[in-house]
Amino acid sequence: GLVNTREMFKKAMEGKYAVPAYNFNNLEQLQAIVTACVQTKSPLILQVSKGAREYANATMLRYMAMGATALAKEMGCEIPIALHLDHGDTFETCKDCVDFGFSSVMIDGSHHSFEDNIAVTKKVVEYAHQFDVTVEGELGVLAGIEDDVSAEKSHYTNPDEVEEFVKRTGVDSLAISIGTSHGAYKFKVKPGESVPPLRFDILEECEKRLPGFPIVLHGASSVVPKYVEIINNYGGKLDGAVGIPEEQLRKAAESAVCKINIDSDGRLAFTAMIRETLAKHPDEFDPRKYLKPARTELIELYKHKNLNVLGSAGKA
Ligand code: G3H
Ligand code: 13P
Ligand code: NA
Ligand code: ZN
Repeated sequence: GLVNTREMFKKAMEGKYAVPAYNFNNLEQLQAIVTACVQTKSPLILQVSKGAREYANATMLRYMAMGATALAKEMGCEIPIALHLDHGDTFETCKDCVDFGFSSVMIDGSHHSFEDNIAVTKKVVEYAHQFDVTVEGELGVLAGIEDDVSAEKSHYTNPDEVEEFVKRTGVDSLAISIGTSHGAYKFKVKPGESVPPLRFDILEECEKRLPGFPIVLHGASSVVPKYVEIINNYGGKLDGAVGIPEEQLRKAAESAVCKINIDSDGRLAFTAMIRETLAKHPDEFDPRKYLKPARTELIELYKHKNLNVLGSAGKA
């Protein structure tokens, strides 16, 4: 069955690695994620956004997640799997997911005032904990692609606030903003220029204020250049797509960061292989024929993350 994130994070903290949180909304992604995590013996947080829930249907998703635990068992390795709501926007969305059997939820009140964020987060925690469902909160706003990177100081998490937030809400983990952002265009950089490093100084300050407390990193795709190139070579148009360098994520995974969220890299790998396959086989119209190579590539991508970036391989 599904488990919450408490034990996973405790082990990740002690073992100095991060548990992968991979988004899914369709069958092939789910198969790839579970296969990769079973093959690398990694704990897994399967996450579903509000949009994914709407796309795939809430009931369907619930059975898909149950299917994931059954598949892992069939593959001979019962890795711990959590089903987590990604970016819950209201108490009602979070309650619905708790009632639907999710083992973990995020309430993202980061766009509210500090006091309103505390109020809604506390309400979700009080409800979720009755059912042993763990809760992730967020402080600080992830940088948007429109912003000028050098002028983003105000978006970063303020370390002076984290202790009070965690104490007053009772959250089980905290997402912070140290320079990552969502999507495939994380920084505006000129060709040949390197991306600005993550603010490890802010992360360290947060760790000092919250010793042993699990930190979460959103927006952690590397926007793997290989996939961007394939997409652009086969009719796509992704100009200036850039992500977080792997060595920075490796460093983060060794810290109190216990959960690293990756969605965009999976989207890019999947799209790259579908574009390439269809371009090379224009006569193909059986979706299995072009979804299978995409799924195979996804398995490789997720295994690579577990083995070489997050350090979660072998920890299940
Ligand atoms: O944080 C955002 C996740 O990548 C989910 O994105 O809302 O498009 O499903 P989505
Ligand atoms: P990416 O867009 O970098 O994959 O981030 C995903 C994420 O944070 C989901 O919550
Ligand atoms: Na860690
Ligand atoms: Zn996110």
